[in-house]
Amino acid sequence: MNMFSKKAARIPPFYVMEVLERAEELERTGRDIVHLEVGIPDFPTAPHISEAAYEAIKAGETRYTHSMGLLQLRESVAGYYNRKFNLDLGAGQVIITSGTSPALLMLFMGLLDKGDEVVMSNPYYSAYPNFVEYMDGRPVFVYTGEDEGFSLTPDTVARKITPGTSALLINSPANPTGHVMYPETMEGLAEVAGDIPVISDEIYQGLVYKGKDHSILEYTDNAFVLNGFSKLFAMTGWRLGYLIAPPEYIRPLQKIHQNFFICANSFVQHAGIAALEGPQDYVQEMVATYDKRRKYILQRLKDIGFGIGSEPTGAFYVLANAKEFSEDSLELSRRILEEAGVAVAPGIDFGEGAEGHLRFSYANSLENIREGLDRIEEYLDT
Ligand SMILES: Cc1ncc(COP(=O)(O)O)c(C=O)c1O
Repeated sequence: MNMFSKKAARIPPFYVMEVLERAEELERTGRDIVHLEVGIPDFPTAPHISEAAYEAIKAGETRYTHSMGLLQLRESVAGYYNRKFNLDLGAGQVIITSGTSPALLMLFMGLLDKGDEVVMSNPYYSAYPNFVEYMDGRPVFVYTGEDEGFSLTPDTVARKITPGTSALLINSPANPTGHVMYPETMEGLAEVAGDIPVISDEIYQGLVYKGKDHSILEYTDNAFVLNGFSKLFAMTGWRLGYLIAPPEYIRPLQKIHQNFFICANSFVQHAGIAALEGPQDYVQEMVATYDKRRKYILQRLKDIGFGIGSEPTGAFYVLANAKEFSEDSLELSRRILEEAGVAVAPGIDFGEGAEGHLRFSYANSLENIREGLDRIEEYLDT
């Protein structure tokens, strides 16, 4: 008999992970698959970052750390944000976590009581509503327009705020849309939220190809910022992230962290210090490479017949309208995988607002992207 909770039974699969797992199954049978589905940077972690972790292990840094993380890393995070966005954060506002995902979990554990509402865009990063529902909260969706790059607006958000709203969740640069929020929009959202805290998932911060990126902390102190090392520093497997919170929330969050996570990996935290304090030219090179791929993939997708509502200028995704080929994104992505040998993410993974779309990740070499798109073009032509 299945003794799992009703909550656990309700949690939907993360389809993009299922696409990846099916692709790997096909690869084991000898099929050649091009991966354009997952958001895993194809670059190796920079050598000076890995070196810092080896050194830490050699020095015996293999025990629990302070539950909030190593002071030096917390200072580095605060310094990084202060320099980049001209802020005045202290290390006391930073908690180091084993990735952005545990930080999200911890935050929703802390913020939500039964029925509390969290306003978010639709399309959204797949896991957001699941985190909220798992903590007995209620996601409230704002359907965003394709032609505006799927961006939230202060007006559309204002209409969804009720006395039951516990937080507004934003994500810029965004997954799955690649949209970078305009500073005026961020400012407007902070204003509309007022006393309601804004949760800002800034994990793709730095991966911006036009203009400058922004942090919600430039516009309000009533915000929780989530960020991590997975994307900008190509460190998905290291599992390192952080949460920046207003001082009054730190102690309750710390108690949650102590109980449920204890602390982030100790030697990995040393790698995090090296990532933030070390040379940044490696990051700049990755950003320049992503931008070349972005330009290429956008042009090719349009040529093939996909619709691009508004040019994505951040992260490493394009959410392309595929309705010309099928209204059912799951079925289309399955056919493209099985028959063309290319793994892409079905839009439905990111909410009904992304149905009829496919998400293409350009965290892969130009050569592989070209091969994948050649295959898709040939398949769709037939
Ligand atoms: C928007 C967004 N938030 C959070 C995460 C999870 O990041 P982490 O590896 O830090 O847990 C991802 C991963 O793809 C993401 O796209």
